[in-house]
Amino acid sequence: MRIAIAGPGALGCLLAALLAPRLADSGHSLWLLDHQQERARFLNTQGIFYETDGNQQQQKITVCSEPQAIGPVDILCLTVKSHDLESCLRFCHPVITPQTLLVFMQNGIGHLDIKERVILPTTPAFAVSSEGATLLAPGHVRHAGRGETRIGFSGHPGEQQQQLLRNLADLLREAGLIVSLPDDILTHLWAKLFVNVGINPLTALFNCTNGQLLISCAARGRLKKLVREAEAVARAGGINVNADPVQAALAVCKSTARNISSMLQDRRRKRLTEIEAINGAVVKEGKRVGIATPFNEEVVEQIKEMERNYGQERQDTRNTTRTATE
Ligand code: PAF
Repeated sequence: MRIAIAGPGALGCLLAALLAPRLADSGHSLWLLDHQQERARFLNTQGIFYETDGNQQQQKITVCSEPQAIGPVDILCLTVKSHDLESCLRFCHPVITPQTLLVFMQNGIGHLDIKERVILPTTPAFAVSSEGATLLAPGHVRHAGRGETRIGFSGHPGEQQQQLLRNLADLLREAGLIVSLPDDILTHLWAKLFVNVGINPLTALFNCTNGQLLISCAARGRLKKLVREAEAVARAGGINVNADPVQAALAVCKSTARNISSMLQDRRRKRLTEIEAINGAVVKEGKRVGIATPFNEEVVEQIKEMERNYGQERQDTRNTTRTATE
């Protein structure tokens, strides 16, 4: 089988590092696709540093910035952020055929309408993963919390696509991940969304760890309102809501108390956040199903304001550093 992973972020590097040794042993091929030529060259030489439980391994991997040189693949896992998906699909075009299984592995639900924005040759699969992966440097991933990866179709795939998905699940399991293929992937995508809707924007705004949200009454109250709105939108849209989403979000704050959420990491690195794919998508879906989402609207505006101020924040940091060294 020929497999490509697009995007050398935390999840992309984690999957590549885990799959590469197993695939090579069993005669399959794996590529990590990176549109940045320089970084691809660097990763080809360095490989991926995979760190877990205090141990570090270096894994050689084939990284490619010219997908036309590879040709068609059987499975393409897209691990880039939601806002980079369209350009990533254009970049990956040479490896995609009507037989290729596309697996979308983004946070949030902003990508679920991808079929309406881009012509896809097949019914895509969507994945939701709670693996705790952090990118420490290019090609250097830390695998902290073990989680579960769920993958499923939201439409009606052909038998060949279903078989490819079963094959992928087997390979990921052999690589040590816990993988399930539920029929109701939307339920699981929304369950993770409820957690991200509450934790991500507030940790980014307050510049605090997940656990610190529990200490402040105001932050906890705001988290509950954000999640309740998302829950109302989900229910109105016919999504199954199994566990209490607020309790689930609070439990994640506790179990990941020392985590720096992905959105706070984006803020600290002055990168575009996933606010549109998370809270922005709740606002959009709320409009579609007729549910008001004032708290989510407000937080989307605040995060966008924060992103607009990155330039100013950079300047402030430079001034503080200069004053401290003078
Ligand atoms: O995006 C994140 O950071 C994570 O999904 C979560 C669960 C909020 C933990 O930090």
